[in-house]
Amino acid sequence: MNFYSKLFLILLLFFQNNNSYAVKKIDNKSNLVCTSLFKTSRNSNEIYAPTKDLLRWLITLRGGGKISDFSPKVKKQIKLFLEQNFIYELTTENLDRAIISLYKNIANIEADQSELKTWIGNQIASLRIGMASHEADPMDSHDFQRGWGFRLLRESDPIFSDPNYLAEMLSSTSLWGTHFIRRRGKFDLDEKYFKEFNQLWRSVAPYKSEIARFTISGSEANNSLFLFADKAVQKRFQKITQIKSEILALGNTYIATDSSVRNRFNIFPEFSEITTSELDLSDRPLTFLEQEKLDSLRSIFSDSKRQVGGILLEIVYSRTIKMFSRSFLISLRNLCDEYGVLIFDDEVLSGGGRTGKFFAYEHIQGFEPDFVTFGKGLVVSGVLATRRIIESNYSIVNAGALHQTTVTNHNEVILKSSLILRRIQEGHLMENAFNTGNYLKEKYGFTGLGLMLSTQSVMNSPRKPNLVNVASVYNRLLPYLDLTPEEADQIFE
Ligand SMILES: Cc1ncc(COP(=O)(O)O)c(C=O)c1O
Repeated sequence: MNFYSKLFLILLLFFQNNNSYAVKKIDNKSNLVCTSLFKTSRNSNEIYAPTKDLLRWLITLRGGGKISDFSPKVKKQIKLFLEQNFIYELTTENLDRAIISLYKNIANIEADQSELKTWIGNQIASLRIGMASHEADPMDSHDFQRGWGFRLLRESDPIFSDPNYLAEMLSSTSLWGTHFIRRRGKFDLDEKYFKEFNQLWRSVAPYKSEIARFTISGSEANNSLFLFADKAVQKRFQKITQIKSEILALGNTYIATDSSVRNRFNIFPEFSEITTSELDLSDRPLTFLEQEKLDSLRSIFSDSKRQVGGILLEIVYSRTIKMFSRSFLISLRNLCDEYGVLIFDDEVLSGGGRTGKFFAYEHIQGFEPDFVTFGKGLVVSGVLATRRIIESNYSIVNAGALHQTTVTNHNEVILKSSLILRRIQEGHLMENAFNTGNYLKEKYGFTGLGLMLSTQSVMNSPRKPNLVNVASVYNRLLPYLDLTPEEADQIFE
């Protein structure tokens, strides 16, 4: 280093030290959460009034946010407030102290220390949701979650940064909302969110269907099908006691359930030979094979030793992306009605608009299952009772009645689900899924329904589409519902 370089460095250090207060390196282990806060010189005449904005910024820092992400103006306001409180180091303890004092100042309340700590935790948790969208993987739009399909919208969808949503999220889970401020008063926010959710759900879900039960996961929704199946068996055999119904899972249904109930599903084998890669909606007569399957089902239903309460199928088989014909499904419906056997349709993966309709069964005119399980991308999971069962057999629907569960009172889940439903409805995303799906099928040779696609058919094609970022273990594609043809071309060409 020559003389001038050394001189330059010395002068630089001199000026920096003069203009900065305690500057510490980022070191999460030693509890320091940020650096270079006080790079500007202090002006002791400026007093910064405590505001909710300031509180939010401090909470963001406390939740792991970086000071460098804030604008210079915001940084300055943070700095002034902290200085007024004689805080020069951004340790977690100092931040907690600042947040608590600011919060007390704003809300003008006295709360005990542990309540306030919990509150800070709540705030951070809420903010994380907002942050997630900023942290989204840049490849997000090209990454269809490796075929798991647990999202209907990409994480970077602008709706997740919607300020109204985030504000509601924050208020519904924090002291700013009902849980703390009005904890001794009337508590009515949950109802409001739930009402809104119901309205949105009705605007997209099949006509006159009703949610019979909320569950925590799709598997749990499938578990609970036995509540309905037991009731159906009770009705069918006029039995009150010793009911342990059986549900027949057709072909290669993905029987996602808890292991404890798994053995109550019996697999009815080899239905796959009557499924096809494209939906056959024609009015054709049954094929020989289809008739054969129905005959064997009939013989099981007539066996008095077996207490078959229902059959489980997937309109679009999640493992193979294959489907039964409309003719078969309508005949199956008639057979099940003849014996009082319920039809359960697992749409945990296909539900929410992925196939171009809210539930895939809606593509099949004249066919309705009795109950439909849903979950995954809709955020809430549960069991839907369709119109036919609501209108004809409400006692069976009631068997699963459990309207007041944690989920129904869990604002975050209901809020996020409402947001997704609104986006699907207002963005016409079901139509988009159908149209983009058709485009992809035509242009690249995929098969399936809407944006529930199989790549099997293109694996050996001479101009195989580029599947690098979207390949999945099951050779299936489950893109986000807002995928456009132009974007798809960028991915596959
Ligand atoms: C068709 C289908 N049903 C049910 C489930 C189970 O849902 P969850 O993972 O929420 O339990 C899955 C999950 O992959 C699924 O694909």
